[in-house]
Amino acid sequence: MNAKPASHRPLALVTGASSGIGLHLSEELAAQGHDLVLVARRESALQSLAERLRRQGATVTVIALDLAADPDTLTARLAALGLHPEVLVNNAGFGLFGKHADTDLADEQQLIDLNITALTRLTKQLLPGMLARGRGRILNVASTAAFQPGPYMAVYYASKAYVLSYSEALAEELRGTGVSVTALCPGPTASGFQDRAAMQQSALVRNKRLPSAQSVARYGVQALMRGRTVAIPGWLNCLMAQSVRFTPRRVVTRLVAFLSRPVGVAA
Ligand SMILES: NC(=O)c1ccc[n+]([C@@H]2O[C@H](COP(=O)([O-])OP(=O)(O)OC[C@H]3O[C@@H](n4cnc5c(N)ncnc54)[C@H](OP(=O)(O)O)[C@@H]3O)[C@@H](O)[C@H]2O)c1
Repeated sequence: MNAKPASHRPLALVTGASSGIGLHLSEELAAQGHDLVLVARRESALQSLAERLRRQGATVTVIALDLAADPDTLTARLAALGLHPEVLVNNAGFGLFGKHADTDLADEQQLIDLNITALTRLTKQLLPGMLARGRGRILNVASTAAFQPGPYMAVYYASKAYVLSYSEALAEELRGTGVSVTALCPGPTASGFQDRAAMQQSALVRNKRLPSAQSVARYGVQALMRGRTVAIPGWLNCLMAQSVRFTPRRVVTRLVAFLSRPVGVAA
């Protein structure tokens, strides 16, 4: 299962590589000459991706685990395998749609454990090695949800606000060290996300044609390689992210509630 990466290719670790944006980020990084460590829970999906990437010349290691339940085993496994990623992509994450009073507390705790805790712990554990080597790139997948509160997805929007704020602060602390931090902030994107979040009834995505995960991933890897701090794919998403800064927050929150409201069911 595990082979040591060829030393001449930089190593990238991607969490949430079994589907959606993470799968395409992995493909994009492999196409740009990286070896890969692929992480998610569904081992069979990771193995099929690994097979494809190996045929393209990458050395690939698969580590199947639940990052929400067990955020620290990953770095122990990396150390045991002698793997030192130069690129860390914190992409694994999920959302939950519904009124906060109705959503399940255990699901929301899992969301916080994955979107916030695992991302922070993994970054904190891999950062010292990157600093010691004087080079590293970190890509944290946030969302356009990071820029304003999100009624009907309150905990998810708040988790992504954390990811954006954390990434921007870290990027500034690390300026001049050779380690960059990029927050990728996609808008709604076609992936497994909507099903996992039970968002089919949200006006935000219902009957909408969404950008592909591949186009978002390509944009994200470009931004990562350029060392950009905040990267928002799509001009409309950029405009929205900027415009909320000049609009009263209560108005923005009402607008998001309207745009995300449950449709097609009795609210
Ligand atoms: N799609 C959108 O509209 C959108 C918009 C903005 C931001 N984002 C963000 O983009 C990132 C990727 O989401 P996506 O759209 O590509 O959705 P996705 O297709 O559902 O992918 C989510 C990935 O996270 C992994 N994952 C979920 N729970 C995990 C856990 N407990 N431990 C380890 N891995 C776990 C999943 O793999 P397993 O199920 O195999 O574990 C999967 O590989 C997320 O952070 C999401 O918040 C998505």
